[in-house]
Amino acid sequence: MALKTLITEQQIQTRIAEIGAQIDADYPEGTLYLICILKGACFFLADLARAVKRDAFIEFMGISSYGKGKTSSGEVKITKDLDISLQDAHVLIVEDIIDSGVTLNYLTSLLQTRKPKSVRIATLLDKPERRIRHVDVAYVGFQIPDEFVVGYGLDYAERYRNLREVCILEP
Ligand code: PRP
Repeated sequence: MALKTLITEQQIQTRIAEIGAQIDADYPEGTLYLICILKGACFFLADLARAVKRDAFIEFMGISSYGKGKTSSGEVKITKDLDISLQDAHVLIVEDIIDSGVTLNYLTSLLQTRKPKSVRIATLLDKPERRIRHVDVAYVGFQIPDEFVVGYGLDYAERYRNLREVCILEP
């Protein structure tokens, strides 16, 4: 298998700086809760949290969805929940990629039940062609074609997460 660079390290970092500035401009004073969805979003979270200049709390959630790659059942399981209350908080879900939208559609609804002031989504990558569930995405790093991508948090069988760039994995 071969790796072909799709988005360079410099492009990623430049875009994250822009998104960080946009987040600073968009949110009112007060703490912002950045919710990192494990594992893929860990590097995006780390860079985005340092790109914003405001007070930001960092929390982690684990999620697994069933039926991925097939006709999705829409079933999503929380494997690690938050251990804080989101009541009256501004919440920004931080994801590496949105594909079918099943995970984020479910998660947004779930977090809304916890009475936050707001819930928005920031994703580094978006594959709009693959969407089967509606998701409102406030911040998108890059829209990408329907290719299998790895790197900067994204894996193939747990490999390649630690690449500094996003690559297409070619057979
Ligand atoms: C990826 C990604 C999202 C989900 C998006 O996670 O981080 O959580 O898939 O897909 P969807 O839009 O089709 O629901 P993955 O299951 O690969 O877990 P990982 O981040 O731990 O690798």
